[in-house]
Amino acid sequence: MTSASAPGKIILFGEHAVVYGWPALAVPVTQVHADVEIANRAFAGIWIHAPQVNLHAELNSLPSDHPIAAVIHNLFFLSRVSPFPNLEINISSIIPVASGLGSGAAVTVALTRALSAHINYSMTDEEVSAFAYEIEKLHHGTPSGIDNTVITYARPVYFIKGQPIETFEVGQPFTIIIGDTGISAPTKESVSDVRKLWETDKTKWENVFGKIGDISFRARHAIHESQVKMLGALMDENHVFLQEMTVSSVELDNLVSAARRAGALGAKMSGGGRGGNMIALAEKDTAPVIAEALMSAGAKRTIITQVS
Ligand code: PMV
Repeated sequence: MTSASAPGKIILFGEHAVVYGWPALAVPVTQVHADVEIANRAFAGIWIHAPQVNLHAELNSLPSDHPIAAVIHNLFFLSRVSPFPNLEINISSIIPVASGLGSGAAVTVALTRALSAHINYSMTDEEVSAFAYEIEKLHHGTPSGIDNTVITYARPVYFIKGQPIETFEVGQPFTIIIGDTGISAPTKESVSDVRKLWETDKTKWENVFGKIGDISFRARHAIHESQVKMLGALMDENHVFLQEMTVSSVELDNLVSAARRAGALGAKMSGGGRGGNMIALAEKDTAPVIAEALMSAGAKRTIITQVS
């Protein structure tokens, strides 16, 4: 039996603008993860079980652009495995789907690592991330690559599309509360809507993306210098631009306001938007109060996580 695990992730700053080449900051969230176990099987075929998405199928019954089937086919092609071995693949993930926590990328990374280990095909982190990026395209269309990067390396990243991984330094650890609207919203759609906006007025939106990029740049400095108040203000600033881009929603705005009222130093939506998660920055001892306020305001779940 071979197994591998990959964490979830959250984007702190710069979503959407990152697709257009501006920097974004993301961190792994280890409280949620995807886990894959692979065992040899006496009978023919490759059986895949992913109960969270109600998937119990033999590989050949899945369409070739199904992300899980694509991982298996692409990896066997890359490693020149032929004929395919008989396998039982169990995928379990406690990362909510389509909510900005990187569930798709985490399953891809865990499956790639488990499968490559099972067939003794060694892959570097860089190779795993590049491989996962190709699969992300099936999920998202035109992904920036931030999800596969932060999840593969499981480290905080200052991400610029197409550039080598750069991690960022955290002065004093800080606390983030993640609040889930419970609304699943495909990133593909919000990314495509932002593209439509951009096409209507490229000068205006490139200016906005540039300002978001500048927020990510300043946030990296604030994190390094432990300026938490500044970091909170930057979150608020970033949220306004995401609202202007139409990717926030009533539910996200409502949770963002509730967090601020409960004493958060700043708050914003996170990820593709329209649903999914928001994040709030808190002093360590006020985090539970903010998490409670989020639940009272309609959040379906909260996660308190420490960035260090
Ligand atoms: O919805 P998520 O957390 O997978 O994040 C998407 C982030 C975007 O910037 C909106 C898209 C991307 O590919 O970077």
